[in-house]
Amino acid sequence: MEDNKKIKKNTMFGTYEFPSYEEILDAYSREFSNYIQPKGNTIFGFWMQTIADLQFLQLELKGLTENYRIYPTERRVELKGDEDFIRLRIAHLEKVGDKPTLYSDIVDEFGDTNAYAFHNLYPYKGKFYPRVVRTLINAFQLNEDSIILDPFNGSGTATHESSLMGIKSVGVDVTPMGVMLSELKNDLLFIDERKLRFSVRDLIEIFQKIEKRQWEYSNPTIYKLMLAIYFDTIDAFARTSSYNRTGKTGLFIKKFNYIKECFEKTMKIKQKYGLKFIPARIVEGDILELKKFKEFEGKFDAVITSPPYYFSIDYVGKDKIAYDYLGIDMKKVESKYLGMKNNGELSRPYGKLPAKVAMYYEDLKKSIENIFWTLKPKGKLAIIVGDSTVGGRKIPTTMMTKNFCEEVGFKLEKLIFNPLLGARNRAIRGESIIICEKP
Ligand SMILES: C[S@@+](CC[C@H](N)C(=O)[O-])C[C@H]1O[C@@H](n2cnc3c(N)ncnc32)[C@H](O)[C@@H]1O
Repeated sequence: MEDNKKIKKNTMFGTYEFPSYEEILDAYSREFSNYIQPKGNTIFGFWMQTIADLQFLQLELKGLTENYRIYPTERRVELKGDEDFIRLRIAHLEKVGDKPTLYSDIVDEFGDTNAYAFHNLYPYKGKFYPRVVRTLINAFQLNEDSIILDPFNGSGTATHESSLMGIKSVGVDVTPMGVMLSELKNDLLFIDERKLRFSVRDLIEIFQKIEKRQWEYSNPTIYKLMLAIYFDTIDAFARTSSYNRTGKTGLFIKKFNYIKECFEKTMKIKQKYGLKFIPARIVEGDILELKKFKEFEGKFDAVITSPPYYFSIDYVGKDKIAYDYLGIDMKKVESKYLGMKNNGELSRPYGKLPAKVAMYYEDLKKSIENIFWTLKPKGKLAIIVGDSTVGGRKIPTTMMTKNFCEEVGFKLEKLIFNPLLGARNRAIRGESIIICEKP
């Protein structure tokens, strides 16, 4: 009311004085927040957009407290429990008990809900959403005594998120590039800040040395970091003409500075919340030969993983620049890929499915058997898959995966479909998260 009066002030001519631009904005934003701001002291994160997000919130809350109620249309939650702990762990709420959650601080600091800490170090194909990993860790009630496995660890999203949450983990992947990136994300969490101090002149020199294949460095983390940034730079440069103005060296420096900023922001959050990061163990290996690691038998509390979407993504080809540089034979790496080594004998009929798809499924089933073997009784499995299209036909990977899980002895608990926004015309429109328990 008071505002109205202020806006309707008379001018010296007896007419109404127009409100200023600021006054209009102010009045609008107050009115607006009346409609869209959730009311309550435990509220949804603004990043919650889909029904799947609502299901994720429910999963998390179930793992973090026994007593909660979600009010979806009001975008708020009522809960009882250890609020401090929930605030540190939850990935879908902005405030708990009127105080910001750690996750909302992360989103504010990095300006993104997924590209935080070193998750965005390199654009590895088929990466997880870290938020989903965090959700599953909460849902499975994992803590500092638990240990997680990702046997298709790729660039190490699951292991990195576990490290950030102070939980032990092991990541296995068959590609040397994936292993290198996962190790890097791991090591950067523990590096001394002084090791990241480079002048523009230093960086130009490093770039030139890498170009001439003369790059050497005593610190292995910095050695690998510079290479990863170089590979990303060359790839981005080749694909996007708008980088022409920055030039390759300019882009390299920009990318290095971005990583340095990520380091500073991550350390700021670590300090603010007194977090304890835990390093992961990263292993180069083949899931089909997982039993070679005898110590993995019945060792893990949870497996959070995603097999290659072999038909839609060329994982190895994407990293051609890196493999050429490192002198790694891509064909050899590819031959170890799921569905590539199979000698053609099938254990069951696959109807009209193309032979290569059938071979892939044979290996997928064997992988799930091996995962089962690594878990403790009551251990949890979350496996994230998408249905790709082969020769114009959708292939039923989600249902096959679910069936394989049940066939090897898992109890199915939940299947959540997570649409990939804006993916209407893509080969993969969304992914499913299949959640199981080993009896
Ligand atoms: C969907 S990607 C996983 C991406 C990962 N979640 C991330 O966030 O980076 C699947 C991964 O499976 C790996 N892979 C394929 N065949 C494999 C095998 N036989 N053993 C282990 N890993 C394999 C690929 O190298 C690829 O990194």
